[in-house]
Amino acid sequence: MSAEAGSVEVAKVSEIPEGKMKSVRAFDTDILLANVGGKIYAASNRCGHQNAPLHKGSLEGNVVTCPLHGAQFDVITGKNLRGPQLGMSQEMMQKLPQELIQMFKRTGEILSEIQAEPLKTYSVSVQGNSIIVEKKP
Ligand code: FES
Repeated sequence: MSAEAGSVEVAKVSEIPEGKMKSVRAFDTDILLANVGGKIYAASNRCGHQNAPLHKGSLEGNVVTCPLHGAQFDVITGKNLRGPQLGMSQEMMQKLPQELIQMFKRTGEILSEIQAEPLKTYSVSVQGNSIIVEKKP
């Protein structure tokens, strides 16, 4: 890795196949690299809800889903697309005692009002097989 004037090589293109993600460290922060349609994008790797590492979630197109509570972000713009979710199906809920159902319903109501912060994004350039990330001003 080499750092110069706000830009740093963080990975090789060959390390991130299309539709995959990779976590790297640069500028003293965790950065998520995502290959969307053959193009590499970089955003904060920390969820705007409670800091979960997004590279452990899933990527569909340009949308990354947080592995912890399911918030979704656009990895190109950093925009928050969906807030945290309860993550329990109606079928699972039916099997629980009434007291737990009430608790989860209350938790779901509270979660539905929580906004996740958007992700910071970074400029990316590719030189040969090298991915260069730049800090935006
Ligand atoms: S930490 Fe990501 S949705 Fe809660």
